[in-house]
Amino acid sequence: MTTKVQSSATKQKLLRVLDGETINPPPIWLMRQAGRYLPEYCRTRRQAGSFLELCYNPELAAEVTLQPIRRYQFDASILFADILIVPDALGQKVWFEEGEGPRLTPIENEQDLNRLNLARSEEKFSKIYETVRILRRELPKETALIGFCGAPWTVATYMVAGRGDRTAARLWAYQQPELFGRLIKLLVQVSVDYLAGQIEAGAQVVQIFDSWAGDLPDDEFHRWVLEPSRELVAQLKQRHPHVPVIGFPRGAGAGYKDFIRHVDVDAVSCDTTMSLTWCRDNLQEHVAVQGNLDPLLLIAGGPVLARRVKQIRETLGQGPHIFNLGHGITPAASPDNVARLVELVRET
Ligand code: CP3
Repeated sequence: MTTKVQSSATKQKLLRVLDGETINPPPIWLMRQAGRYLPEYCRTRRQAGSFLELCYNPELAAEVTLQPIRRYQFDASILFADILIVPDALGQKVWFEEGEGPRLTPIENEQDLNRLNLARSEEKFSKIYETVRILRRELPKETALIGFCGAPWTVATYMVAGRGDRTAARLWAYQQPELFGRLIKLLVQVSVDYLAGQIEAGAQVVQIFDSWAGDLPDDEFHRWVLEPSRELVAQLKQRHPHVPVIGFPRGAGAGYKDFIRHVDVDAVSCDTTMSLTWCRDNLQEHVAVQGNLDPLLLIAGGPVLARRVKQIRETLGQGPHIFNLGHGITPAASPDNVARLVELVRET
């Protein structure tokens, strides 16, 4: 394998910040930047049939990944897929109810757990890797390509509940910790392989989404969030030591400090509720900080949007910062407000 050494002048902005550089204006990309707020996304999604068919169609998945790059010239592009590709690849039935979100046949006992297997995972993952390969060919060279997966805890919550109800997994973890631990361990293994596969296909950075990291008391947070994430990143970095990792333990509050101590991430994505000065003072001297504009400001627009962008840039601009939202963009966001946001962030 040859390693390309890029000089700081040609290295993409996102990678420079993940390497600890402070850049003004900061690089910008948005979580869920490909999505229903864009009319062209809605058209391609209809053409694909269902959401999962879109994820598994490399040509169309690459097309929707590129749509927001064409419109806004973001500094990074995130592979179009979903965190629930992993349970689907393990043989659990996954589907998306229109207007309601994901549904899975729940994992309720040891038998269900034993039925999960890797037999078909490579076939499913190979479609996603093909999307990554197309993107590396088609993306402008200044645009970084981000791969991703869900963190074991968050993926397990969907697998156990069969939907976005977060109590079932928490209860299962108390009642049958050995069994739940087996599920988490399987998810660590498969996620390492899946992220390594994305990297080998051309992803330059990976982000790990732990949307429900904030649900647990501290002992359980340690056991089911920190420990599996630490293990996942350690194993991935053994295989790909130079690929930066962004963690997103959403809702973890002060737990973000423990997270960056335990997990070898290069950046953390900060959720909307986190204080900017707290992020600056507690996180930014150790890792790059990504975030954290309220996605609703892309519906509101106007002076409230401009004021908050200024606050974020002023508070986080003295250290390594990646401009982003504190959570995914919503379908009601206005594409014009997104354009305005990019202008505001790029104003010097
Ligand atoms: O950010 C991107 O543009 C890349 C693609 C991406 C999607 N989902 C596409 C998607 C990524 C990184 C995700 C992550 C994801 N998926 C998370 C973690 C981040 C978060 O939001 O907390 C979670 C929890 C999921 C699971 C999931 N997928 C849910 C709960 C839903 C339904 C919510 C909704 O908006 O309808 C999805 C569907 C989904 N994933 C959509 C997109 C664009 C909307 C699907 C559609 O077109 O109908």
